[in-house]
Amino acid sequence: MLPPLLCNLWKVHDYVALALQKQAGTGNFIGPWFTQMNCVVTCDPMNVHYMFSKNFINFVKGPEFRKIFKAFGDGILTADSDMWKYQRTILHSSFKTRRFEKFREKIVRKKVESCLIPLLDHVERQGIEVDVQDVFNRFNFDTICSIVLGFDPKSLTPDFQEVACMRAFNEVGEFIFYRHILPKSVWKLQRWLRIEAVKKRAEAFQTFDHFLRESIASKREKLSQNKEVISTEDEDDDLITTLMKDEEGKESVGDKFLRDTAFVLFVAGRDTITSTLTWFFWLLAKHPNVEAKILQEIQNKKEVKDQVYLHGALCEALRLYPPLPVVRRQAIKHDILPSGHEVGPRTVVMISLYAMGRCEDIWGKDCLEFKPERWISERGGIVHIPSYKFISFTAGPRTCLGKDLSFIQMKIMATAILCNYQIHVVEHHPVSPALSILLQMRYGLKVRITKRR
Ligand code: HEM
Repeated sequence: MLPPLLCNLWKVHDYVALALQKQAGTGNFIGPWFTQMNCVVTCDPMNVHYMFSKNFINFVKGPEFRKIFKAFGDGILTADSDMWKYQRTILHSSFKTRRFEKFREKIVRKKVESCLIPLLDHVERQGIEVDVQDVFNRFNFDTICSIVLGFDPKSLTPDFQEVACMRAFNEVGEFIFYRHILPKSVWKLQRWLRIEAVKKRAEAFQTFDHFLRESIASKREKLSQNKEVISTEDEDDDLITTLMKDEEGKESVGDKFLRDTAFVLFVAGRDTITSTLTWFFWLLAKHPNVEAKILQEIQNKKEVKDQVYLHGALCEALRLYPPLPVVRRQAIKHDILPSGHEVGPRTVVMISLYAMGRCEDIWGKDCLEFKPERWISERGGIVHIPSYKFISFTAGPRTCLGKDLSFIQMKIMATAILCNYQIHVVEHHPVSPALSILLQMRYGLKVRITKRR
């Protein structure tokens, strides 16, 4: 089955969605024997509910996944069983406090005012084209860095300067992607032949790793020099400082844990929000009626929590273009999925979140339409759709930890942009997904900006 998949690589997610539709939602993928690519592929919500919640214990990320994503270290995204539980508990308790929520919101609002708006003003005054995907990437890199490590690397500037740590992070992403799609044998051969690109990517990994370790070490140093600060909680403490202060009187979580956590949050938090916002603005450009309704709502309801229609529009972007189009799980023991498909020990199951977002059985005949109205209840609230159906943040005990943060950040950014500017996608700009683990746009999203009167 590999050759037709490769022939359709540039539209692989649509290809898989169509194939799954023909297979009633679940099928077996058989690759050439040497690639070890055999797996079950599904977009059936009942299978998803089973694997992510009911029999969660039997479906793990698995050792192969950890090998592919070795660069992540032993962070929460790749961990399983007790190691995962330990990290989830620690991260959950720091992430979900009111203080930390307020801190994150403050960082985002400050960044919008001090960098995003001035940059867009500059673009508007100059009358130049700008790639908003790049703008969002830089914005998110700076905010994640501020939230996690407590400083802004200032990659979002009008001259779009190259910041070394961000460039290294981008290259690490490419490295992981190729490691993910290439069969193990090809990958090993490349490494053995010491192909230049492989060497370059390894260097990028070292640069980013060094950046994280240095930032953590200097934070420890500062805290150890100022002992009385350790016992007091500051409302502007970043995540790593919070975790270090939490160690007081307990066993240290250790710098490796902090490094791996920081890495994971860069990975989990940057490109996901970038991807959603980029597709969202592209969808708005194609649906001016939706844009007009969002603007009307913003004028009537200033608080982000009350912006129900904007919330619905973002959910639509997430449904049609889930930033992580595919996630994978591996069975520990033999099992039978609700669809009747058998999985043996170590069978890999690929869950196509992309196909689920476009599944007629879940969303109805108009499943391919961008329709925020489907999220609005008769009483004007948000319709609750179970997470095993609206799967963009996955479901069950391993649900995304950054979901609330993401909505708040995306609403603040979208509101600020839409109130001040009109975004015009450059005519004939090619729009297609990039070959990547994340659903970003291959050529970015080139736009022109005018002031909203
Ligand atoms: C639109 C934005 C986002 C989307 C669509 C999204 C989606 C996801 C998905 C699909 C997973 C599950 C991955 C898997 O199981 O293989 C996940 C996990 C995770 N996400 Fe997000 N994410 C977003 C933003 C964020 C942000 C901003 C953060 C934090 C800064 C974050 C932190 C995490 C963490 C820590 C996990 C691991 C949870 C665990 O394994 O227990 N995410 N996210």
